[in-house]
Amino acid sequence: MLAMKNILLLALVYTLAAHAADSLVVLTRPFQLAGGTAANNIKLIFTSPADTYLVSRSLSSSSGFSQIANTTSYTYDDYALKKSTTYFYKVVGVNGTETVLESDVVSSTTYALADGGNPQVYDNTFLYSTLNNTGSLLVDGVYYKYVYESDDDGFLRFYQQTSTDGYSFSGNKTVMERDVVCASVNATTPGLCKIERQTFKLHPLTGKIVFWGHFENEADYALGELCVAEATPGEEFDFLGAFRPLGYDSRDFTFFGEEDGSAGYILSATDTNTNMNVYSLTANWTDIDELLTTVLVSQYREAPAVEKIDGYYYLFTSNSAGWYPSAANYISATDMAGPWSDTRAIGDLFTFGTQSGAVNKIGGQYVMKADRWGANFDGEAVNSERLAPIVFGQGFASYEFYHAILYNPEESGASSVVAVQAGKVLSIGASVNATAASSDSYAAGLAVDGIKTVYTNYYVPSAVPFYYTIDLGAEAVLSQIDLLTRIVKGSETYYTYTVSGSTDGESYTVIADNTDNEAVGFVVNLITDLNSYRYVRFDVDGIINAHNGNSATWAAGINEITVYGTKTTQTAALDAVVSASVASGLYDDDFTVELSTNATGSGTTIYYSTDLATPKSGCGTKYTGAISVKKSTDLKAVAYSKAGKIVSRLLIADYAVSQDAKDDNA
Ligand SMILES: *[C@@H]1O[C@H](CO)[C@@H](O)[C@H](O)[C@H]1NC(C)=O
Ligand SMILES: *[C@@H]1O[C@H](CO)[C@@H](O)[C@H](O)[C@H]1NC(C)=O
Ligand SMILES: *[C@@H]1O[C@H](CO)[C@@H](O)[C@H](O)[C@H]1NC(C)=O
Ligand SMILES: *[C@@H]1O[C@H](CO)[C@@H](O)[C@H](O)[C@H]1NC(C)=O
Ligand SMILES: *[C@@H]1O[C@H](CO)[C@@H](O)[C@H](O)[C@H]1NC(C)=O
Ligand SMILES: *[C@@H]1O[C@H](CO)[C@@H](O)[C@H](O)[C@H]1NC(C)=O
Ligand SMILES: *[C@@H]1O[C@H](CO)[C@@H](O)[C@H](O)[C@H]1NC(C)=O
Ligand SMILES: *[C@@H]1O[C@H](CO)[C@@H](O)[C@H](O)[C@H]1NC(C)=O
Repeated sequence: MLAMKNILLLALVYTLAAHAADSLVVLTRPFQLAGGTAANNIKLIFTSPADTYLVSRSLSSSSGFSQIANTTSYTYDDYALKKSTTYFYKVVGVNGTETVLESDVVSSTTYALADGGNPQVYDNTFLYSTLNNTGSLLVDGVYYKYVYESDDDGFLRFYQQTSTDGYSFSGNKTVMERDVVCASVNATTPGLCKIERQTFKLHPLTGKIVFWGHFENEADYALGELCVAEATPGEEFDFLGAFRPLGYDSRDFTFFGEEDGSAGYILSATDTNTNMNVYSLTANWTDIDELLTTVLVSQYREAPAVEKIDGYYYLFTSNSAGWYPSAANYISATDMAGPWSDTRAIGDLFTFGTQSGAVNKIGGQYVMKADRWGANFDGEAVNSERLAPIVFGQGFASYEFYHAILYNPEESGASSVVAVQAGKVLSIGASVNATAASSDSYAAGLAVDGIKTVYTNYYVPSAVPFYYTIDLGAEAVLSQIDLLTRIVKGSETYYTYTVSGSTDGESYTVIADNTDNEAVGFVVNLITDLNSYRYVRFDVDGIINAHNGNSATWAAGINEITVYGTKTTQTAALDAVVSASVASGLYDDDFTVELSTNATGSGTTIYYSTDLATPKSGCGTKYTGAISVKKSTDLKAVAYSKAGKIVSRLLIADYAVSQDAKDDNA
C-alpha cells in the first residue's frame, strides 16, 4: 500500500515537473529617444525562445503587476517612463496556450547621462565617429600607451607615449624593437615579423605591464605563435620570446587578467582556427601554465574578447567571413575551465553590418566595439566601428543597435553611457502587404516580427523585383529605417531599392533612394523628409552578388525591417533644404560652420540641434551665426516659416575633429 502511494506520488511529481515552465532570464537596458533628455525608456530582452511573450510591470517588486504587452519579438520597448525611477517586470513565454517560460521579477532604473550638459556623442551611422575614451593603463597618475610602428619589412618597433589626463598623449620612446622581437624568425622572412592583436595589461600584483601578441613572420601566417614581453611602467620591455603555447598553433587570441591580479588567461584560436583553446597563465602572467579546456569546437570563431561580470566570464567571438559582416556569438561560464554554455546568438545576424570586435569599458559600462570593414567590402572611405552597449545577467548577454551613444568616460557608474534610439520602433507586429511569399515558411510577416538572430526567420518574395509595404496603423514622422537582409556566406549580396511613404496607401513619395546601395546585410536609411506617413513601402529592384556584380535573386530574403519614428501628423515642405558650409566628415582642427536655406518667405528661420533631436521651432536653438565645432558633433537643422511650419527637409551633418587621444590599447 505504502509502495503504491509512493509510486503515485512519484508519477504526480513527474507530471508537475514536465509542465513546469523553464526559467527565463530577462535583461534590461534603459535608453533615450533622440530628442529626449534621459534614458527613460526601457528595452527588455528575452533570452530564451517562445512564440509569444507577455510582459507585466509594476512600481513595486512584490505586487501590483499588470500586463503591458504581448509580443512575438524577443525585445520589447517600454517608452515614456518616469525619470530616475525603478520599474519591476515579470515576463512569461507562451507557446500555444502553454506557459513554457517564466522570469523572476527583474528591476531596471531609468537615468540620465551623468554630466548630461556636455556629453560626447558617438554616432553609429557616421564613418568618422571616434571614441574619445581615456587610456586604460594608469600607473601612479600616468597613462601609458604603446604604438605599433611598421615599415615595408613588417614590425619595426613599439614606442611609448604618456599622458596625465588620459586623452592627450605625447612622447616617442622606443620600448621594443625588430632586432630583438623578430630574431626567432629563421625561415621565409628571416629576422622580419609582424604582430597582431597587441595587448598590454597592467598586472596589479607585480606592478609590471605585460604584453602578449599574435606573432607571425612578415610574409604569411605559417608560424601561428604568441609572443610575450614585460616592462616596468616607463621602461623598455624585456622580450620573453615567441612560441606556440604548449605546442599548439595559435592565431586570433585574447589576453584576460583578473582585476585583482589573481589569475590571467589566454584564449586562442587553434587547429588552423577551427577550435579555441583556453590557457591559464603563470602568476606573473608571462608564461602559459596549462591548457584548461577547448571551446567552440569546429566553430571557426575569430576575434575573441572576454569580460568578467558578476562572477561570469563572457567570451564574444566573430564568425570568419573575410571582411564581410558576420554573426557574433558568445558563450559564458563561471570558471574558465568550464563548463561553458552553448553558443548563443547576439545582436543581429550580421552584427549591424560589422564583425564582433573588442569590448571597451567606458566609465562604468561595457560596449562592443564592432568592426565595419567597409573600405574592404563596400568601397567606403575608411573602415569604421559601431558601438553597442552590452547588458549582462546570469550568464546571458545582449546588445542592440542604437543610432548613437552619448558618453562620459570620467563617470564610474551606469550613467557613463546612454544609448540613443532614433525613435520608437513602429514596425514590430505591423500588418504588411508584399509580393507573394515563395512559401508559407517564408511569409511576409517574418520581416516585421522583431526576430533578428534566427537565420531562417525571413520573408522570401516569389519574384524580384518585389515590393513590401508596412502599415504603421497611424501616421508617423520617420527618422530611421533599417534593412536586415539574408546573406549567404561566400556569396554576400546587396539590395538596390527605394523606400517610399504614403498617407493613404495609394500615392507614394520616395523618402530614401538606395538604388545605388552596395552595402551588404544591414543598411541604415536616415530620413530627411519630415512629412508624416502611415505606409512605408520598399521597392527592391535588384539583389547583387557583391563578389562578382551578378544578379543573385536566388539569395532573396528579408530578415527584418525596423522603422523608427514618432506617431503624429505633420506636413513639411520637400523642395527646400538647409545647407551647411562644411560637408560631413573628419577635420584636423576646430572649425566653424554656417547654415543657409533656400526656403523662401520672409521670417524664415533655421533651428538647429547637436543633441540628436529634430530641431523644433520656438523651443529649439535658433541659428543666428556661425556654429563652432570642436569635437564630434551631430548637427541637425530645419527651416521654419514665420508661422512655425516646416519649410525644408532635415539637414543631417556629422563632424569629427581629429584627435591624438584615440586609445589604441583598449
Ligand atoms: C516554444 O516555441 C519556441 C519558438 O517556436 C521554441 O523554440 C521553443 O522550443 C518552444 N518551447 C517549448 C518548451 O516548447
Ligand atoms: C496576444 O494578443 C493577440 C491579439 O493582440 C491575441 O490574439 C493573443 O491571444 C494574445 N496572446 C496571448 C498569449 O495572450
Ligand atoms: C619618433 O622618433 C623616431 C626616431 O627619432 C622618428 O623616426 C619618428 O618619426 C618619431 N615618431 C613620432 C611619432 O614622433
Ligand atoms: C627555427 O626556429 C624554430 C622555432 O621557431 C626552431 O624550432 C628551429 O630549430 C629553428 N631552426 C634553426 C635552423 O635555427
Ligand atoms: C614567471 O613565472 C614563471 C613561473 O613561476 C617563471 O618560470 C618565470 O621565470 C617568471 N617570468 C618572469 C619574467 O618573471
Ligand atoms: C497590396 O499592394 C498592392 C501593390 O501596391 C496593391 O495593388 C494591393 O491593393 C494591396 N493590397 C492590400 C490588401 O492593401
Ligand atoms: C533648394 O536646393 C535644393 C538642393 O540644391 C534643390 O533640390 C531645391 O530645388 C532648391 N529649392 C528651392 C526652393 O530653390
Ligand atoms: C576628448 O575628451 C576630453 C575630455 O572631455 C576633451 O578634453 C577633449 O577635447 C576631447 N577630444 C575630442 C577630440 O573630442
